[in-house]
Amino acid sequence: MTEQTPISPAGGSDWRDGVVYQIYPRSFADSNGDGVGDLAGIIDHLDHFDPDLLPIEAIWLSPIYPSPGRDLGYDVTDHTAVDPLLGSEDDFDRLVAECHRRGIKLIMDLVMNHTSDESAWFLASKASREGPYADFYLWRDPSGWDGGGNPLPPNNWVSFFGGPGWEWVPERGQFYYHTFLVGQPELNWRNPAVEAAQWDMVRGWLKRGVDGFRLDVFNAFLKDPELRSNPVLAGGNSPWSRQEHRYDIDQDDFVDLIGRFRAILDEKPGRMSVGELFTGGTKRAAAYTSERHIVFDWSLMESPWTASAFGAAIDLREAAYGPGAWPTIALSNHDRERQATRLSASVGRDRDPDRDAIAKAAAVVILAVRGTPFLYYGEEIGMVDVDIPRDEIVDPPALLAGPDFPWYDRSRCRTPMQWTGGPGAGFTTGRPWLRLAPDAATRNVAAQATDRESVLATYLRLLTFRRTTDALQRGAMRRLDSGDPDVLAWTRGGGDDLLILVNFVGEERAIDLGAVAPGRWRAQVGTHRDPAEGDARGRLVLRPDEGLILTRADG
Ligand code: GLC
Repeated sequence: MTEQTPISPAGGSDWRDGVVYQIYPRSFADSNGDGVGDLAGIIDHLDHFDPDLLPIEAIWLSPIYPSPGRDLGYDVTDHTAVDPLLGSEDDFDRLVAECHRRGIKLIMDLVMNHTSDESAWFLASKASREGPYADFYLWRDPSGWDGGGNPLPPNNWVSFFGGPGWEWVPERGQFYYHTFLVGQPELNWRNPAVEAAQWDMVRGWLKRGVDGFRLDVFNAFLKDPELRSNPVLAGGNSPWSRQEHRYDIDQDDFVDLIGRFRAILDEKPGRMSVGELFTGGTKRAAAYTSERHIVFDWSLMESPWTASAFGAAIDLREAAYGPGAWPTIALSNHDRERQATRLSASVGRDRDPDRDAIAKAAAVVILAVRGTPFLYYGEEIGMVDVDIPRDEIVDPPALLAGPDFPWYDRSRCRTPMQWTGGPGAGFTTGRPWLRLAPDAATRNVAAQATDRESVLATYLRLLTFRRTTDALQRGAMRRLDSGDPDVLAWTRGGGDDLLILVNFVGEERAIDLGAVAPGRWRAQVGTHRDPAEGDARGRLVLRPDEGLILTRADG
């Protein structure tokens, strides 16, 4: 096996310096016309990440394992293989090789909290209370029987996806627990055989050349050993939020488990891991962050597009992480409303917000705030959420949504990538598995690649600058008072080497640079200007929705 190089090939010495791009494989590119994206389609489109289009350092692949697809790949039947719907084992090895040839790292999504109820492990476990898999899942006897002779669940835990958390299996005469769908039984991580099997699987992917992992709902792996009922809370808009999740997530010994996982990755330098924090705040995300393990926090993703909300989220992050720990930045993913839709809808302005202008300013935020940025496919062209009729919904919990179970239909943010203005948006020659966005004919990679003003061109300029700018990759961050409530200002780098200004409103805002950050500054890159505009000092007028990165020009 070859020695891993750091994630940033451009002079960075640490994987944290790079930008990660999330691919939702079913929706990225379809090579065989069956309407579903696949691995060969991804390989065919790796030019998208060329240095003159979208220079990123790593790809995170949402799950590609065999799955009945009830949670669209997050219900895995065999964690060691590739779903034939998405390609062959050879396709996968080719994808790793092709990524590496281009200096791109490949990060797999590991769904280790649960499996599919069709996995061989679960089928064996369900069939008998004896044998090697008997204790692989969270099986429990009923707590009693009701008057009608029906078994009562072991405790009060509920499913995050709606409905009860315990499922009765008559063959075994026991319940099993599932945080998510009935078809996603929870693994019993307190069984050493489960942990050993998971680490074998992890080593298998590392042997195939994978550079790191995203850990799905990682803080849910361990449960209270006694499976005690959660305390009940007043208020809350769903059964899940009416409990304090003291016993079903976030157990004290979980940190040791992550340490054991990290030790496997650390057998070779340069590998990365990122945990998906499941229902928790920034402080908890920071607490789970360790020297070489980063964690998603949701503070920016949950902020409306105002300078005060983003400023507060940034301050919260900086305080929680402190200068020694490394945050992540994501404004979208496969579970949340796309940022172009969410941010423009959140401004609450009288006028129509300029969605693309906000998407570009958001690009400055995501690439200039301290942390490792994660871009969600389509974000680079400002893709928006798509209205999905009920009979086309592919997100199971969305079908249960109601007054006591509010749920965002995740089908809306998973629609096919828009490559061209041609048929099937260049995504497929067949019928796409999920409908295309109505704006695909005009909003697509081909159109934006030749337009200097496009969202894509803005990402390209910012990513190019970021790649060669140490202070942006790993520099310290210091927030400044811009003097205007609609403008955020911060510096990056130990010597305040870079100044970043973002105007959150669709009107001009004048900034007194002399008061904010004295000295002479040069506009480098952003939504509107480049160094040709000359140096700035004193009064600087920011254009509507402008984001700008300046370097010192003091000489
Ligand atoms: C994570 C995934 C989500 C999935 C869930 C259950 O939250 O991001 O897509 O449905 O875990 O695996």
